[in-house]
Amino acid sequence: MSKILILHGPNLNLLGLREPEVYGVLTLDDINARLTALGAELQVEVRAFQSNGEGALIDALHEARTWASGVVFNPGAYTHTSVALRDAIAAIEIPVVEVHLSNVYAREAFRHQSLLAPVCLGKISGFGWESYALGLRALVSQFKR
Ligand code: DQA
Repeated sequence: MSKILILHGPNLNLLGLREPEVYGVLTLDDINARLTALGAELQVEVRAFQSNGEGALIDALHEARTWASGVVFNPGAYTHTSVALRDAIAAIEIPVVEVHLSNVYAREAFRHQSLLAPVCLGKISGFGWESYALGLRALVSQFKR
């Protein structure tokens, strides 16, 4: 069975409490539980990890190379700043889908730039927790092409 890493970046551990009008009321555990259920439906194993640290996210991407078929990644604010995460995604040579709960293009100008999108398979933004679900479906559909 294919395995997929669901990777959550900084401040996403506070989901449910953090700006619920922007990010919704579901907690990270709620989202992970929904993605685990969706994974079972799609016949893939889903493993989730969150870190606030750029280094830990890079390490998780490097490790994913050894066990995962792909990654659904919400890089949080590092999306807009991190050359190191971009290089990690380019290095691992497994597909990564960038996802965001909010529509980053409807927000501040600094959120319109993603340093990561050019090295990702694709990007989904603006559908709340379902951005992750759509990202997971899109990733799995690529394995079945
Ligand atoms: C986010 C969007 C980012 O701009 C922001 O820094 C986040 C969350 C989202 O899921 O909408 O932390 O990635």
